[in-house]
Amino acid sequence: MEFLRDADIDPAPLAGKRVAILGYGNQGRAQALNLKDSGIDVVVGLRGGSGSTNEAEGAGLTTALLEEAVASADVVMMLAPDEIHAALYGEVEPRLRKGVALGFSHGLSVRFGFVQPRADLDVFLVAPKGPGTALRSLYKQGKGMIAVWAVEQDATGMAKHIALAYGRAIGSGRAGLIASSFAEEAEADLFNEQAVVWGAVPELLIAGFDTLVAGGVSPELAYLECVGELKLIADLIEARGIAGMREVISNTAELGALLGGKRIVDASVRQRMAEVLSEVRAGRFAAELKQEEADGYKRLEQARAENRRTLLESTYQRLSAAEN
Ligand SMILES: NC(=O)c1ccc[n+]([C@@H]2O[C@H](COP(=O)([O-])OP(=O)(O)OC[C@H]3O[C@@H](n4cnc5c(N)ncnc54)[C@H](OP(=O)(O)O)[C@@H]3O)[C@@H](O)[C@H]2O)c1
Repeated sequence: MEFLRDADIDPAPLAGKRVAILGYGNQGRAQALNLKDSGIDVVVGLRGGSGSTNEAEGAGLTTALLEEAVASADVVMMLAPDEIHAALYGEVEPRLRKGVALGFSHGLSVRFGFVQPRADLDVFLVAPKGPGTALRSLYKQGKGMIAVWAVEQDATGMAKHIALAYGRAIGSGRAGLIASSFAEEAEADLFNEQAVVWGAVPELLIAGFDTLVAGGVSPELAYLECVGELKLIADLIEARGIAGMREVISNTAELGALLGGKRIVDASVRQRMAEVLSEVRAGRFAAELKQEEADGYKRLEQARAENRRTLLESTYQRLSAAEN
C-alpha cells in the first residue's frame, strides 16, 4: 500500500490557489485553520445568518456567503453534513468555475449519487481518519492525522496532485496519506460505523452492563468493569496491536478473553456483519440517511433522549461527579 508523507508530496499545486471550505463544523473548522496555518489562502463559505460566522472570523479566517466563497475558489471542500451535500451542491454548482477541484472528506455523497459533479471538475477525497478536534490538536503539536485520499474525476490532469497537496496542508502528510477510492472509503466507513466501533462496541458495553446489574452487581462496579476499561484496551491496542495487547494483560484476563471472545462474537455475528456490508454496498444506509434528514432527524432525536434516561447514563453521571 502506498503510504505518502510530506517528503513525497509537492505542495506547489495549492500555491497561490484559493480554497473555499463549505461548513465550519467538526471538520470544517479544523481543516480551515490547518490550511491557514500552512499558508493557504482560505475562505469559509457559510449560509446566510450562520451562527458560525463570528467564530470563524474570531479565529482569524475570512468568511463569505456560500455562493461568493465558491465563485472565488480554485478548490471547494464540501464540509457540511453528508445528507445535505445534494442540496448544497445544487446551490453552489452554478457558481463553480470551470476546472475547479471539488473535495470531500467522506466518499458517501459521491459513491451513493447524492452529488453528481459536473464533468469539467476535478473530484477528490481527503478523509482524515478521526474527528476534527484531533486533526487540529495534532497539527498544533507538529503532528498529523492519517488520511485516506482518492480521485473520482480528473478533468484537468491535476486532481491527484491537488488532493495530495491538500492532505499535506491539513497536516496529514506528517502521519501518512493512504490511496483508496470513494467507494472503498465510503463503504468501509459506513460498515465500521454500524458493525464495529460506533455501532456494535457501545451496544456490547451496554449489554454487559445490563447483564451484570441484572445479576445483582452494583451499577457503579458494572460500569467500571464493562465501560470504564474500554480506554485501557484502546490505549494498549494503539500502542502494541491486538496480539501485543493480549501478551501484556494478566494470564487470567488473557484466558478469559480466549474462552469468551469467540463465544460472544461467533459465526452468527460475522454473518450479520457480512449482511451489513452488503446492505451498505446496495445503498440501503444512504437511503436511510436521506430519509432521516427529510424527517427532521426525529429518530435520532428520540434515540438521544432515550439514551440520556438510562441507568447506565445516570451511573456515568454519578461516577464522573465523584471523580471530579
Ligand atoms: N465529524 C467527523 O469526525 C468527521 C471525520 C471525518 C470525515 N468527516 C466528514 O466531514 C464532512 C463534514 O462533517 P462534520 O461532522 O464536520 O459536519 P458538521 O460538523 O455537522 O458540519 C456543520 C457545518 O455544516 C453547516 N451546514 C449544516 N447544514 C447546512 C446547510 N443546509 N447549508 C449550508 N451549511 C450547512 C453548518 O452551518 P452553520 O454553521 O450555519 O450551522 C456548520 O458550519 C462530512 O462529509 C463527514 O462525513 C467528518
